Amino acid sequence: MVEVVVGTQWGDEGKGKVIDYLAKNVDIIARYQGGANAGHTVVVNNNKFVFHLIPSGILYSDKICVIGNGVVIDPVALFEEIEYLKKNGIDVENKLYIAENAHITLPYHKILDQVEDKFRGRGKLGTTGRGIGTTYTDKYARIGIRVVDFIDDDVFMEKLKIALELKNYLFKEYYKEEILSSEKIFKEYEFYRNEMKKFVINTSLYLNEEIEKGKKVLAEGAQGTFLDIDFGTYPYVTASNPISGGACIGLGISPKKIEKIIGVAKAYTTRVGMGPFPTEIKDNLGERLRSIGNEFGATTGRPRRCGWFDAVLVKFACIINGIDEIVLTKLDVLTGFEKIKIGVAYKYEGKIIENYPLNSKIFSNCDVIYEEIDGWNEDISKVKSYKELPKNAKKYIEKIEEKINVKITKISTGFLREQIIER
Ligand code: GDP
Ligand code: IMO
Ligand code: MG
Repeated sequence: MVEVVVGTQWGDEGKGKVIDYLAKNVDIIARYQGGANAGHTVVVNNNKFVFHLIPSGILYSDKICVIGNGVVIDPVALFEEIEYLKKNGIDVENKLYIAENAHITLPYHKILDQVEDKFRGRGKLGTTGRGIGTTYTDKYARIGIRVVDFIDDDVFMEKLKIALELKNYLFKEYYKEEILSSEKIFKEYEFYRNEMKKFVINTSLYLNEEIEKGKKVLAEGAQGTFLDIDFGTYPYVTASNPISGGACIGLGISPKKIEKIIGVAKAYTTRVGMGPFPTEIKDNLGERLRSIGNEFGATTGRPRRCGWFDAVLVKFACIINGIDEIVLTKLDVLTGFEKIKIGVAYKYEGKIIENYPLNSKIFSNCDVIYEEIDGWNEDISKVKSYKELPKNAKKYIEKIEEKINVKITKISTGFLREQIIER
């Protein structure tokens, strides 16, 4: 059967670490959406890996990893990652499958993503510049190039020419950028086309066959619920569906096959890029969270905005994802804070709001109602059992559970694989 791991905030919840930890119990790890905008960190034996496209289960020698059809694949980023893994003694051949019907990110997607965001002016989104939105736009405009098209020279050339016709018009006439040559791209990507062929299969058939045989699949979400194109803080969102429902579409599996949905929540909140963030801390305390939590983007290196845990958001995430259990990460980062706050409701024009408002005018201008608990000073990074945790840390965990109505079954207290408490 299938278990889905999904981010419950604005991404960077620690999904990479959690997936690496959970992967030991499954056979296949499969990414279902997003692209090289993701940065999933896994630290094993003093070695740090940041995965952008390759599933976070790749470090196990006996597991299969799948990049599903819902993912947008930048071949340059993919093969950089494969090279890095090789250098570190990990060979992905016979361990990695790529969906024939995933879409390919090409140079014009990346350039267009960057110039579009510049042209947005005050409406700037602060995208990762990795060509994510522009690749998905082409997919829906039906001028995208899929993996099967990419690895067939004739089809690729034909589709590339069609796509570039419009892109070059925009570059030349509107954005005043240099135009691109299809011949040049064709040549530059020859290496990637040849290399990619080894990995390409119909991953949806493969996954369904394996599930039928009784194999266990862990579906890896990228980004987070509030970056979801439908449910996030639109327009400050990504261009895919990170929510659990996205796993069915992004892998080609039936909702009937999903057995469990695991939400990952950071013990506080972070966000990279623009967009509303009601519990953001704008003073020194936010700075302190950023520095202790090392909150800098795993993909772009940008400082992450930091704030208190927002239970209104995570409660909504639990509802729409159908979350069965929560893994709470980075609790260690809160050690030493005298008081810790939890956002439990919003207030807008004198009215109390208990649920995440989809109306961005309200969400951008609301005040937060907080509950506060006393912090703890004990080092929790080596704690192995729930009962050993400081009293106030347990209080904090239980308060969150009460607010989100879902059990916290695992608590992460450091970036290492071992630093996790099973409850
Ligand atoms: P993802 O995108 O959800 O996979 O998260 P990122 O990898 O972008 O960011 C999470 C960061 O926190 C990474 O640097 C992890 O190594 C680190 N991390 C994960 N869990 C913990 C934890 O429990 N405590 C601490 N201190 N760091 C953690
Ligand atoms: P992981 O998987 C955090 C943010 C960007 C920007 C917005 C849109 O590591 O959790 P995009 O390039 O996707 O069009 O940018 O989404 N964003 C992320 N923030 N974690 C991520 O991935 C993100 N992927 C995109 O910063 O605000
Ligand atoms: Mg990340």
